Amino acid sequence: MIEIDHVSFQYSGAEKENLQDFTLQISKGECVVLTGESGCGKTCVTRLINTLIPHFYEGELKGKISIDGVDTTTIQPHDLSDKIGSVFQNPRSQFFSLDTDSEIVFGMENKGIPYQTMLQRYQQTIQELHIEKLQNRNLFDLSGGQKQK
Ligand SMILES: Nc1ncnc2c1ncn2[C@@H]1O[C@H](COP(=O)(O)OP(=O)(O)OP(=O)(O)O)[C@@H](O)[C@H]1O
Ligand SMILES: [Mg+2]
Repeated sequence: MIEIDHVSFQYSGAEKENLQDFTLQISKGECVVLTGESGCGKTCVTRLINTLIPHFYEGELKGKISIDGVDTTTIQPHDLSDKIGSVFQNPRSQFFSLDTDSEIVFGMENKGIPYQTMLQRYQQTIQELHIEKLQNRNLFDLSGGQKQK
């Protein structure tokens, strides 16, 4: 459960609050689409959820954000990395590797997951997402849509 409870946030140096008295609850299994005009604060909300606010972006935060009952001000972003992930609009700006396989296992390698478990999860991911054709490919040889997949 993601709970954002009467949250306001003002980036350091901003003249007024960039998000005002925002409340949202997202339950397990829910898919929520956040829409609104440019600059209204959608990315700000995603930063509250992935905890880059307040741990990376400085500013004044009011209200409370919790993920599965844990107050996000009390933990670091990497503590939540099993639960919270962000997918960028432009895939090229989030690749760390040169090939698809390295990219798929990148998160697991960083968490020090044992090799056999990693292999198993890699296969499972390929099957669930039906991306067999994208195995062992150079990222620069993929189409825009294939990169997003
Ligand atoms: N790092 C920052 N420092 C100061 N102000 C910021 C920063 N990032 C965003 N803002 C301001 O916060 C407000 C909300 O921005 P946000 O990026 O959340 O909008 P958005 O809804 O995601 O817009 P878009 O649809 O254009 O992506 C805007 O007024 C923006 O100028
Ligand atoms: Mg945005």
